[in-house]
Amino acid sequence: MTDRPDVSSLGFETRAVHAGSGADPVTGAVTTPISLATTFKQDGVGRPRGYEYARSGNPSRASLEANLASLEGGAHGFAFASGLAAEDAVLRLLAPGDHVILPNDTYGGTYRLVARVHQPKGLDFDTVDLVDPHALDRAWRPATRMVWIETPTNPYLRVIDVRAVATAARSRGAIVVVDNTFATPWLQRPLELGAHLVVHSTTKYLGGHSDVVGGFVATDDDQLAEAVAFLQNAVGAVPGPLDCYLVQRGLKTLAVRMERQCANALAVVDLLCGHAAVAQVFHPSLVNHPGHAVARRQMRGFGAMVSFSLRGGEPAAIAVCEATRLFTLAESLGAVESLIEHPARMTHASVAGSSNAVGTDLVRLSVGLETVADLLDDLRQALDVAVADR
Ligand SMILES: Cc1ncc(COP(=O)(O)O)c(C=O)c1O
Repeated sequence: MTDRPDVSSLGFETRAVHAGSGADPVTGAVTTPISLATTFKQDGVGRPRGYEYARSGNPSRASLEANLASLEGGAHGFAFASGLAAEDAVLRLLAPGDHVILPNDTYGGTYRLVARVHQPKGLDFDTVDLVDPHALDRAWRPATRMVWIETPTNPYLRVIDVRAVATAARSRGAIVVVDNTFATPWLQRPLELGAHLVVHSTTKYLGGHSDVVGGFVATDDDQLAEAVAFLQNAVGAVPGPLDCYLVQRGLKTLAVRMERQCANALAVVDLLCGHAAVAQVFHPSLVNHPGHAVARRQMRGFGAMVSFSLRGGEPAAIAVCEATRLFTLAESLGAVESLIEHPARMTHASVAGSSNAVGTDLVRLSVGLETVADLLDDLRQALDVAVADR
């Protein structure tokens, strides 16, 4: 057991550092120890001291769960082995015959999970443009039980009005889920905007260092929390203690990382908007971005993901991806190092040919923490390659 100060009413950064953790009363260790035990001594038959068996709960996971739930403003938090494991637990709340509405450019893995794992077992779904406030009405069916929001979307960074969609969906009795991976609770808190459940790939900004795969579900709803807790234990897609420790370590610096990464992204957007090789830049900071006003309202900043299309189409997009030296050509996002990728052939290859297919002229950047001038120099020389090749 640790000596945990009550920080629940204190600021975001304070909770990021202290919520769920505290100096160990035995050793004085100031970080939550990584607790590897799989089973825990009981004081008598059926009288555990708090933990029984590590899949059901352990000190490392409990510490992370309390911390991230606090950052999302939720009473309950559940850590999973990956973002998709967290999403799977949420989708298992539904029954065969139920209908779920998803954004039409949701993360490819979410689409695959719904279309190839849950649909064959009887779940029905439609993908719609949730940026359009009337899309929900058109897609609604008597069997609609869940509305899935991802905002900003991946990879086009479109912005969905969480409060508007959540209000409409709640009034019809559906569960509202928000994938908050791209924004993080530092930029956007969906539970405050009306969502029932927040899901995360903690692999991204929350872990923040490209060294841990994880997922999370947060909620304020006691009944949903009970159902997710049951699934977490019954299905068992739980993270190990070291993974929990790494995600929680990432959370401690989330605010400062996000602040700087968002600032670096603005400088990148500025460069892209002025370069001859670029056809269009997708970032909510741009005043001509259709979601700019909503982003201003529901987010603290505009995020550090930036997508852009190339005048030279797919060959130019691939040339840029292969010409950067600091931006590493790799999937994933949200960590300290800047990444570049070609969504149509990489992260979104699984949705090629579907209604969620991504333009082959598109490049996606995850802007990291390197010196911003170095990032700009690197991008400029890569874009110049694309112009020269035309
Ligand atoms: C928005 C979003 N949600 C969920 C996931 C899935 O997370 P994981 O890879 O941790 O399973 C990803 C992964 O890229 C993602 O980008």
